[in-house]
Amino acid sequence: MLNIGVIGTGNMGSAILKGWSSLEGIKLFAYDIDEQKLDNICNKLKVEKITNIPDLIQQSSFILLAIKPNQVKPLLEKHKDYFLDSHTILSICAGIKIKKIKKWSGESARVVRIMPNTPALVGKGLFAICFEQDTTPSLKDKVIELFQAIGKTFELEEIYMDAYTALIGSGPAYIIYFLEAMVEAGVSLGFTRDMSTEMVKGLIFGTAKMIEDMDKKLSDLREMVTSPGGTTIAALNHFDRMAVRGAIIDAIHKACDRSKELG
Ligand SMILES: NC(=O)c1ccc[n+]([C@@H]2O[C@H](COP(=O)([O-])OP(=O)(O)OC[C@H]3O[C@@H](n4cnc5c(N)ncnc54)[C@H](OP(=O)(O)O)[C@@H]3O)[C@@H](O)[C@H]2O)c1
Repeated sequence: MLNIGVIGTGNMGSAILKGWSSLEGIKLFAYDIDEQKLDNICNKLKVEKITNIPDLIQQSSFILLAIKPNQVKPLLEKHKDYFLDSHTILSICAGIKIKKIKKWSGESARVVRIMPNTPALVGKGLFAICFEQDTTPSLKDKVIELFQAIGKTFELEEIYMDAYTALIGSGPAYIIYFLEAMVEAGVSLGFTRDMSTEMVKGLIFGTAKMIEDMDKKLSDLREMVTSPGGTTIAALNHFDRMAVRGAIIDAIHKACDRSKELG
């Protein structure tokens, strides 16, 4: 039995607990300073409520940090004497490097850094996972298995975390931004806002399913709807004249630069 303690049962902590609570072979514990949030989760799921952090650390071999980044340093420094080399800290806190978590937690525990994205809130997350250099293969397998059970995983070196944040962490916002523009186009073509929104939402679901189910390159799927001299090519040519592809690439580079600055 693997004992996992989750500190912070807000958006991400509770989504991850929800996913893990249906797995065999793990026992879940949780703590949050907001007792109402903690009760909500522990009353709904097979998760044991813990009322203080030392107890949670002592009962767990994996400790998931799901608190806001600015809350991490004080929490770890306050409890560093409880962390042993038998513990593994799993941090999903944006922007905080392994080296810092290691230092603040007293250098004994193993540290794994994980970056989820918002679709994790509905069980469809992508998780980038960074390990310390000398992490054993069995620990890597265990962590990857845990996150694969609730989404897709990519093992990355930590130097790629800013790029991943820019592409995939912020990614849902780019897609939604494009969809919002399409809704506006629908309204300007005479559809009601509700109709246009419903149609565009249906479009993204269908397109995503097609990408997943049909074993084709993205460019092939695009060409399937781009008949010679037709409507789609007229729109795509306009995108190219407006340098939309280049703007998207530049924008994601800007997000990466900003992630480096914040780090
Ligand atoms: N949400 C996302 O889409 C997303 C994506 C990628 C990464 N992340 C990372 O995930 C982490 C959690 O984000 P979130 O959106 O789930 O935050 P959240 O909803 O605010 O949840 C954090 C929870 O931790 C509680 N908390 C604060 N200090 C604590 C302490 N000392 N001990 C125990 N619990 C404490 C908070 O209580 P109070 O509300 O009372 O402070 C809150 O209930 C962040 O570090 C973020 O960078 C989130």
